[in-house]
Amino acid sequence: MTDAASRAVDREAPLGVFDSGLGGLTVVRALREALPGEDIVYLGDTARVPYGTKGAATVIRYALACAKHLVARGVKSLVIACNTVSAVAPERLRIELDIPVLAVIEPGARAAVEATRTGRIGVLATAGTIASGAYPRAMAQCSTRVDCIGHAAPLLVPLAEEGWTEGEVPELVVRRYIEPLANARVDVVLLGCTHYPLLRPVIEKAVRERIGQHVTVVDSAVATAADVRAFILDRNLDRRSPTGTGSVRLLATDATRSFREVATRFLGAPFGDVELVDL
Ligand code: DGL
Repeated sequence: MTDAASRAVDREAPLGVFDSGLGGLTVVRALREALPGEDIVYLGDTARVPYGTKGAATVIRYALACAKHLVARGVKSLVIACNTVSAVAPERLRIELDIPVLAVIEPGARAAVEATRTGRIGVLATAGTIASGAYPRAMAQCSTRVDCIGHAAPLLVPLAEEGWTEGEVPELVVRRYIEPLANARVDVVLLGCTHYPLLRPVIEKAVRERIGQHVTVVDSAVATAADVRAFILDRNLDRRSPTGTGSVRLLATDATRSFREVATRFLGAPFGDVELVDL
């Protein structure tokens, strides 16, 4: 982004956040803690979720549509709350849009590298994120002493979207997915998909039972929110005189029951109706 463009940004404008579905609400929750005075517009592309099983060109096309919709609503900065999009699309979004674009891969990779003692880090993510190699690349930027063992866990996305986050079905699925990480003797399991923290209790239980009590489960939401905060404050993009807690406006491309339920569970605070948008 050019200096001229950065001067033109309205610091009172909301932050724009998007994901393929409801997983990015885990990032919105962390953003509200890190930047309580900021207004947020969140877009979940519930009509086209999942992105993680699709090719990079399709994901980039969908991501551009989401991003342009938010830019048209006047957001001052974009947070890609989706690992699959963050793995393949940030550069293209930065080229096409004249506002700052922040993503979740680097903060997640850094948090995982900080947490490991043995240097063996397991990553659960969508097939698209694993195939992109984005996590091993990002971890290699933080340390030359880590081994990144990635494993695709696609079924966790529909389970999260469906609100099926506890009980024997997710437990069985999670146990199958962590088996390769157990065999690789990782000491950190990074949740490399913003949907997976919705299943965090089930994942933590399975990881502790199968791999060990010493294993740390990391997700990128808090680290991402800390990076967004630093960026916003550094550039003087924070609202000048926020009055109380900022608002959250929810947009979705399809009306799903679980979207509202998860939003209520995750964000706690009351928010208006979920607005349906057509991209
Ligand atoms: N929440 C998305 C991510 O972080 C993925 C879900 C999907 O497959 O669309 O990768």
